[in-house]
Amino acid sequence: MPNATYTFPPDFKWGVATSSHQVEGNNENNQWAAWEQETGRIKQGHQAGRACDWWEHAEEDFDRAAALGLNSLRLSIEWSRVEPEPGKFDEDALERYREMLQGLLERGLEPMVTLHHFSNPLWLEKQGGWLNIGAIAYFDRYVERVVRALGEQTTLWCTINEPNVYAVMGYLQGLFPPGQQDFKAMRIVLRHLLRAHGVAYRTIHRLQPAARVGLAHNLHIFDPAKPGNLLDRLAAGGLDLSFNRSILNAVWKGWWTLPLGFGPAWSLHHTLDWIGLNYYTRALVSFDCGARDTLYGRLSHAPDAELLDGGYGELYPEGLERALLRMARLGIPIYITENGIPDSDDDQRPRALLLHLHRLWRVLQGNFPIQGYYHWTLVDNFEWADGWTQRFGLIGLDPETGERTPRPSADLYAAVAKGNAITPELLDAYAPELREVLLPQ
Ligand code: GAL
Repeated sequence: MPNATYTFPPDFKWGVATSSHQVEGNNENNQWAAWEQETGRIKQGHQAGRACDWWEHAEEDFDRAAALGLNSLRLSIEWSRVEPEPGKFDEDALERYREMLQGLLERGLEPMVTLHHFSNPLWLEKQGGWLNIGAIAYFDRYVERVVRALGEQTTLWCTINEPNVYAVMGYLQGLFPPGQQDFKAMRIVLRHLLRAHGVAYRTIHRLQPAARVGLAHNLHIFDPAKPGNLLDRLAAGGLDLSFNRSILNAVWKGWWTLPLGFGPAWSLHHTLDWIGLNYYTRALVSFDCGARDTLYGRLSHAPDAELLDGGYGELYPEGLERALLRMARLGIPIYITENGIPDSDDDQRPRALLLHLHRLWRVLQGNFPIQGYYHWTLVDNFEWADGWTQRFGLIGLDPETGERTPRPSADLYAAVAKGNAITPELLDAYAPELREVLLPQ
């Protein structure tokens, strides 16, 4: 059996990912801040509050990321800070972001900057948010301002994070603001977000010819619960089409596919220099005529699956390989813009991390252009409707005191990033089952 060392490409990006509302603290002018005030919206009534205090002290966590041996970090710009009122831009906020990006560069961390990660300024939300077609032009104006302000610090832009999750959670399942359950609204929101991506893609390139612009897509795997059952297969296929394929078809093929519509979306054709993969878990799908919210597919997990904290789903590292191979068909560079698990006591994360990275390594052997991996996340942060109940950090956080406690996973990730490899010692310590995996021929 080989004494396996799994080595990664020399210029591979090892990073962590996060988003403004989840870490900055005291964001009071976006729709999430308002949502957090409503009873029953967030688990245990939690609020983002000071979050990870990045608005004041992000640099302390940048030091921690650099100490882990990372060379990149993905963060997002909070639109409601940059443009607190329509058309009124806050130069101090832009200056703070410039300072943060400069801080990353000084620590050898390449910034990847997301322009929209779930949060909207309240003024936009009051005008109907992304249901309002006007949001596309508003977004474009904001993007232009941000790229002009921060273009010296980065060329790596992610326009919109997970349009599918934003639309489904806010407009179909009603678990994110504005809490609607309306399929038609969900479709409109998704179309507007994708069109805004296309417009932003062109604007960024006009301002910065060297820009590398992509979008982060949450690719959720839907497998039929009984592969031999035609109805389960149809239900799983319908969910995959709606949640995954229709989005990738729009921004790459320039084609609206059901349920988004049917016909050309020429302005979106090839509006990607790279594609971001956010991969977490998969679902098994059984046909159920009562499950309207999930397009007649009842979601469950494999009976023998290892489950993650708080009902997050199953640990399914193979899904990362499947998702990467699927995205590789686009033939453009790929970043894994998010991957991680909720695990407050870190009893699963070290092994899970190695199992996922091993899947990534396997795909890299096919010479697919995967540029980097961003773990979600560095420090526990505010997990949207789950509040502080889900802990995704390599480093634990006490949100009351701000105290940080590195978890064993932090050391493990540092060892992988610094060595640019998974060594036999790491396998022995955390995932012995991979020790004897034969190299693919
Ligand atoms: C993603 C989202 C992140 C984070 C993560 C963990 O869908 O982009 O903001 O919350 O899930 O659940």
